[in-house]
Amino acid sequence: MKRILLIISGSIAAYKGLEIIRRGLERGFEFTTILTAGGQQFITPLSAASLSGNPCYTELFSLTDETQMGHIRLSREHDVILVAPASADMLAKMVSGRCDDLASTVLLATDKPVMVAPAMNHKMWEHEATQRNIQQLIADHIHIIQPDSGSMACGETGTGRMAEVATILDYIEAHFTANKPLAGLKALVTAGPTFEPIDPVRFIGNRSSGKQGFAVAQTLADAGADVTLISGPVHLPTPMGVKRVDVQTADDMLAACASHLPADIFVGAAAVADWKPTLSSEQKIKKQSPLASFDLTLVANPDILSHIAHLKVGRPQLVVGFAAETENLIPFATEKLTRKGCDWIIANDVSAGCVFGQDDNTITLITPDETQSFGIMSKQAVATLLTEKIADYFSPSSPLPVGEG
Ligand code: CTP
Repeated sequence: MKRILLIISGSIAAYKGLEIIRRGLERGFEFTTILTAGGQQFITPLSAASLSGNPCYTELFSLTDETQMGHIRLSREHDVILVAPASADMLAKMVSGRCDDLASTVLLATDKPVMVAPAMNHKMWEHEATQRNIQQLIADHIHIIQPDSGSMACGETGTGRMAEVATILDYIEAHFTANKPLAGLKALVTAGPTFEPIDPVRFIGNRSSGKQGFAVAQTLADAGADVTLISGPVHLPTPMGVKRVDVQTADDMLAACASHLPADIFVGAAAVADWKPTLSSEQKIKKQSPLASFDLTLVANPDILSHIAHLKVGRPQLVVGFAAETENLIPFATEKLTRKGCDWIIANDVSAGCVFGQDDNTITLITPDETQSFGIMSKQAVATLLTEKIADYFSPSSPLPVGEG
């Protein structure tokens, strides 16, 4: 049974929120509701609670008074959050990330899919501001259930009427039954740089943004995998539905990976620092004199990809690495595939400052059987391509998996 957190905002279509509960219960959904202040102008919390058989929440602070953070709990314990009807104001609030009431706070705190069914006057729907907001919400991975056109409660005709209740429920059902080729599989993904401390304020690091690893984690999760993302220090939001573990050093990253095994799939997208200072000073290292030089001795860090690929017990079935090269792309990457013992390697050209921090990547996928080059692609497209290849590999109908032939 899927649990839906239904947010009903201020619109004449609010009464249809109650219809969503009635028809949704018939389809086996369970509902908990939040009524915004605007929503309460049209329907009462009592009707929503009576129909759903669960509490209807309205206040942010009565929940945060609980020993457990009520709004955080609400945002996490449902399978999906549905905002229906979503007023123009609610959409604008979601775009700006404001959280001055329970509904907007829950929407900002959630790690679950969010679907919105807009409802408003057609002029409001067509307004540049609303259309701009819709584009931003799509970019923020919010699902938009498009409004219908026809005659409206205000007497005018146009697009803006909330989608039919059956359409909204069909949309949710389709989301849950959509093709999830990696359902039931566990994936471990590393991303970002590692920072190796020299002293409490200085470190050795690199320019990795983490974008590629985060995109891979997102697409694997979208394909149904249970994904844990072990991330070095980056400034990126956690992909929807992904468990994230933040680490600083290569040693921490290896320990975090080891503690999250077993997994079926390992993707090493992190730019792990190859070396760390032999000793990290507990105190800030002082200059001996203004012009004195300073010798730093480095030792090799563990190679996480190689370690995981060579595990005798509990090796993930498919181990994928990335090879960042500035020259001899294919020969160097192929040598890396063999040396590190991974099944596939994605070679990417990092010469001339491309890739690190950028949105595009030029890649070649190397497996023991084939070398396939692709033109310039967004990191998102690389992630999608890799996920499709992984899905093919695990598909029961596919031929003998690469690497075992
Ligand atoms: N990798 C790793 N642990 C390391 C170094 C690299 O897990 N200590 C992984 C990366 O996540 C990537 C692959 O190994 O999947 C290759 O990384 P890359 O930086 O291209 O190779 P290096 O091993 O660092 O080799 P070199 O610097 O000599 O090119």
